[in-house]
Amino acid sequence: MGQNMLSLTDQRTGLQFEVPITDGTIRAADLKQIKTSPDDFGMMTYDPAFLNTASCRSAITFIDGDKGILRYRGYPIEELAENCSFLEVAYLILNGELPTDEELNDWIALVKRHTMLHETTKKFLEGFRYDAHPMGMLISTIAALSTVYPEARDIQDPENRKKQIARLIAKMPTITAYCYRHHFGLPYIYPDNDLSFTENFMNMMWKLLEPKYVANPILARALDILFILHADHEQNCSTNTMRAVGSSQADPYVSVAAAAAALSGPLHGGANEEVLHMLDEIGSKENVAAYVKKVKDGHGKLMGFGHRVYKNYDPRARIIKWTADQVFTVTGLNPKLEIAKELERIALEDEYFIKRKLYPNVDFYSGIIYEAMGFRPDLFTVLFAIPRVVGWLAQWQEMLTDPEQKIARPRQIYTGSGERHVVPIDKRHGSTVGAD
Ligand code: CMC
Repeated sequence: MGQNMLSLTDQRTGLQFEVPITDGTIRAADLKQIKTSPDDFGMMTYDPAFLNTASCRSAITFIDGDKGILRYRGYPIEELAENCSFLEVAYLILNGELPTDEELNDWIALVKRHTMLHETTKKFLEGFRYDAHPMGMLISTIAALSTVYPEARDIQDPENRKKQIARLIAKMPTITAYCYRHHFGLPYIYPDNDLSFTENFMNMMWKLLEPKYVANPILARALDILFILHADHEQNCSTNTMRAVGSSQADPYVSVAAAAAALSGPLHGGANEEVLHMLDEIGSKENVAAYVKKVKDGHGKLMGFGHRVYKNYDPRARIIKWTADQVFTVTGLNPKLEIAKELERIALEDEYFIKRKLYPNVDFYSGIIYEAMGFRPDLFTVLFAIPRVVGWLAQWQEMLTDPEQKIARPRQIYTGSGERHVVPIDKRHGSTVGAD
């Protein structure tokens, strides 16, 4: 028996099988040889919601959920947040290495070249009602960009991919700011390429009549750090969507729109907005214990708590707490912080949460910072999407260049009727046709 082999005995037939183990994993397709008869399809694995299935090999992001470790391309998230800018980290995630001075300058210049939106895209945005949710506007606008850049369909050309990747990363802040200003009927502000990525975003969001918008450097850096923390998170729901849609060779714009749609759900990126609604509902520190009891009794969830992979403190939540302190030196304390801290304190001491290893995740504190900075809650998930586009596109490119990948197409266990035959409508059970 080989050392890196898994021995299996099929008790139905008494036959024995050896399946190779690589990286602690067996290939599901290797189980197909296990059959009860020659016309049997062969053994499958059943894994709803992918609890224990690796869908790809990836060199981008490493997570050890038990130890609370997150690394991009091998670099600890803490070091990247402390020492790098968001665009530097974006370069790392996309290219595998941190850039040199020259590479970084070229990359920044490339992104800046693509920050403007085609004027027709502005008209497209005009079609939304004033109170449209920005996430719906973002998803639709990204999808609409596929009509502006039809050449993006040539996904096999690396140079073409590079251009579309830069375009998408560059245009996300512009679309976001336009969605925000549309709500208030404020004129759209064109990008100012003298400014850094985050300063320019703040400029497009909040510039009024001043000749030159000057961002507060502490807030601009805090936003940059938040973008770094959200840039990638391996095979989460939206990234899996990006890979699945991209595997059909759809263009990157519609694939990113699909990934953003997945992000919008309250169990994923939509949780940051829900956290704020939850804190509003709780109202004050005194009500926290009763709210936690309600959750334990099965009424709703603590939004911003729990994670499929982290069974320890989410390392991003720790950095976010530190960032919050910096932001509050400028903005003053967000009163909701007190409620959030009390919620965390009570939950972390409670048997229900301890037993299930439920800790605050990235979304728990991010909304409180965003709100203190002046962002409305309905924009929070859009703020998650701006940096996550980097991860989606890196994972998309990795998928396209992986010779093992094909169109994503899972199997199912059919649970419906066996074959049956159509009866005329007046003979069907319960039919009233022809009845007096
Ligand atoms: N509050 C209360 N109970 C919870 C929570 C929560 N936030 N999360 C999980 N549980 C319970 C769950 O009810 C289950 O209990 P039991 O074993 O008695 O049935 C147990 O913990 C295991 O949970 P699960 O639903 O099997 O875990 P999952 O891996 O399928 O779900 C999750 C992960 C993130 C969807 C879930 O924890 C959740 O809904 N959290 C709240 C929403 C949230 O904050 N989402 C953001 C995730 S992090 C950033 C991102 O991905 O965007």
